[in-house]
Amino acid sequence: MTKLLITGGAGFIGSNFVHYALAHPDVSVTVLDKLTYAGSLASLTGLPEDRFRFVHGDICDSALVTELFGEHDAVVHYAAESHNDNSLSGPAPFVQTNLIGTFTLLEAARATGIRYHHISTDEVYGDLEFDDPERFTESTPYNPSSPYSSTKAGSDLLVRAWVRSFGVQATISNCSNNYGPRQHVEKFIPRQITNVIDGVRPRLYGDGLNVRDWIHADDHSSAVMRILEAGRVGETYLIGADGEKTNRDVVEAILQMMGQPTDAYDLVTDRPGHDKRYAIDWSKLSDELGWTPTYQSFPDGIADTIAWYRDNEAWWRPQKAEAEAKYAAVGQ
Ligand code: NAD
Ligand code: TYD
Repeated sequence: MTKLLITGGAGFIGSNFVHYALAHPDVSVTVLDKLTYAGSLASLTGLPEDRFRFVHGDICDSALVTELFGEHDAVVHYAAESHNDNSLSGPAPFVQTNLIGTFTLLEAARATGIRYHHISTDEVYGDLEFDDPERFTESTPYNPSSPYSSTKAGSDLLVRAWVRSFGVQATISNCSNNYGPRQHVEKFIPRQITNVIDGVRPRLYGDGLNVRDWIHADDHSSAVMRILEAGRVGETYLIGADGEKTNRDVVEAILQMMGQPTDAYDLVTDRPGHDKRYAIDWSKLSDELGWTPTYQSFPDGIADTIAWYRDNEAWWRPQKAEAEAKYAAVGQ
């Protein structure tokens, strides 16, 4: 039995990984999560009781983290403050959780020798020009733009230093934008799907031509599992699925699939420092570890995601008014 500790497992990508990992009968999972506004126990229902445990706590709690590390074979660190817009209006929890939290975990990894996998984002690399033929690779220089991406970049650098200086058994992955079930309605795709359900027009920042490189959360999970199985300690792996789309493309697809005119959206105030384009070269992961994504069709993945939000209003409805109030306050 492989005993995994998953930080942030009540959030979007962490909960999808927990469901994915527990589909393997030889895996048991403990989730450590603070249940911030972004965490939901409703994302952790229907799991096998004999192989799943939930611990309510903070990754900055050194005694708790060290005790839990001693009871597990590996930790996968998803917990973070994860939303760029929130980091612009209030960066303090990003510094605390993303930097101090990661530092706390690394010190516990150093003390216990546990295998540690660090979940990060392609946003640490900054952005690309629209016409740049290059994509991000593992050797692209770090150049983060926002409080969110800069704290994630800092956390990655802590991991690299703890590997080199203290021999911590760590790997890092930097993934592109995820979509799928159980994503908080503050994020782009679920915000627009739930707006359309509510009869509200989707909102695009600026001219709506910024590009994101979309990957389904299940593909992110299979890549992380593969890195845990076969990744080389000390290495960084980029995860992507060739999913570059403008924000307009995404909203038009959602509107069309939900039976609305494809121009039924509004352009609103742009995000300060808004990254233009992200694009991932995931050939290292594919060449070294033989991983490939399984969600080949973005429209199919979006259709599944729309169906999930239609079928699970009880999950997202409690988040919606607060998320929209935050946007209304800044004209978005
Ligand atoms: P999320 O905001 O949905 O979930 C974060 C989870 O972490 C929540 O359950 C929250 O309660 C928990 N948490 C926050 N602070 C904590 C603390 N101090 N102690 C314990 N738990 C705490 O985030 P997400 O979108 O699922 O992202 C998960 C990870 O994946 C993050 O590290 C993020 O940087 C990374 N990532 C996200 C994306 C994306 O598209 N969302 C892409 C690449 C990488
Ligand atoms: P988001 O989901 O916040 O992810 P990230 O900032 O990590 O890329 O946003 C994805 C893209 O969608 C980004 O270019 C900002 C844009 N966006 C909108 O145009 N309208 C919205 O209402 C939101 C939330 C985001």
